[in-house]
Amino acid sequence: MKESELSLGKIDGVEAGAEDRLVNSGICTVMELAAALPAEIVEVVGGDVEGAAALISNARSYLTKKGLMLGEFVTASEIARRKKDVSFCSTGSIALDRLLGGGLETKAVTEFFGMFGSGKSQICHTASVMCQLPQERGGLGGSAIYIDTEGTFRVNRLSEIATARGLDQAEVLNHVLYCRAYDVQHLTAVVKSLGLHIRENSARLIVVDSVISLFRSEFIGRETLAERQQKLNGLMHRLHNLAEVYNVAVVITNQVQATPNTFFGDPNRPTGGHVLGHSSTYRVYLKKSGEERLAAMVDSPYHPYSEARFMIASAGCSDPDSTR
Ligand SMILES: Nc1ncnc2c1ncn2[C@@H]1O[C@H](COP(=O)(O)OP(=O)(O)OP(=O)(O)O)[C@@H](O)[C@H]1O
Ligand SMILES: [Mg+2]
Repeated sequence: MKESELSLGKIDGVEAGAEDRLVNSGICTVMELAAALPAEIVEVVGGDVEGAAALISNARSYLTKKGLMLGEFVTASEIARRKKDVSFCSTGSIALDRLLGGGLETKAVTEFFGMFGSGKSQICHTASVMCQLPQERGGLGGSAIYIDTEGTFRVNRLSEIATARGLDQAEVLNHVLYCRAYDVQHLTAVVKSLGLHIRENSARLIVVDSVISLFRSEFIGRETLAERQQKLNGLMHRLHNLAEVYNVAVVITNQVQATPNTFFGDPNRPTGGHVLGHSSTYRVYLKKSGEERLAAMVDSPYHPYSEARFMIASAGCSDPDSTR
């Protein structure tokens, strides 16, 4: 689709002055307007929430007419047809891809949670390489955007994974756009501006590693919980909209917290409470088991509970030889 067809001027209710202000705030096209939250629009163009919601709704209707977004009510067969747009990015492990129903799904948010060293960041690094491969080799044929909140991104790990997989490491590094987010406000602003970067870099994968750490360190004490959850909810909402509007795969990582009153079973639970629980499309629990890693699909709209074994090697996330 031509860039001019996505200009904000195409949308009813967006006047010239408002268009300039939206563009200056990073909402440059109809795609970003459709993925925005009413409160963000109010902040930029003023007016009330209802007016902002109407602009967003007009943008969505426009994209629906162009066949880029689903309308409000559609038949199940239309959904099935649209499902054909969905692609999968390999995690690097055949077993883990199988657990995910084919890999990291576009138009969806996949959450990996687990203890330190369970392999969350390794999956993020491997997927950032894999997404660059053409579709017939398990990739999405696009770049990765890597948002790092913990400072654990390693360029040499990307190079190692690329080399072990027989890829040109310089090419691979050129197609990973990195951003270190330092606080919640910064992370929120970065996620707000993602639409532009997705388009400019032809990105097909967005990684947020981790989505929770900045919230956990900034919002301390029960009295801050409501505000924290509200901000986290806004961020997740935005990531979902971006996944849908741009047909990209979104991967987030999450930490665990131990529940002290568990007598039987695993005491580890994902952090982020109900907000993350409800907002990830797929939730995968990772656990170290000797040299191997165990992944369990704990929440999905249609996968049954299932488990897979994978390993971390020089090629990143991969399979123990026995399962190949
Ligand atoms: N080159 C490598 N070859 C084999 N295994 C590796 C390699 N690099 C890292 N690992 C393994 O990956 C583990 C680290 O995993 P990762 O960084 O993904 O953990 P994480 O789940 O992100 O933890 P955290 O919560 O601390 O961020 C290391 O403990 C090591 O076992
Ligand atoms: Mg990590």
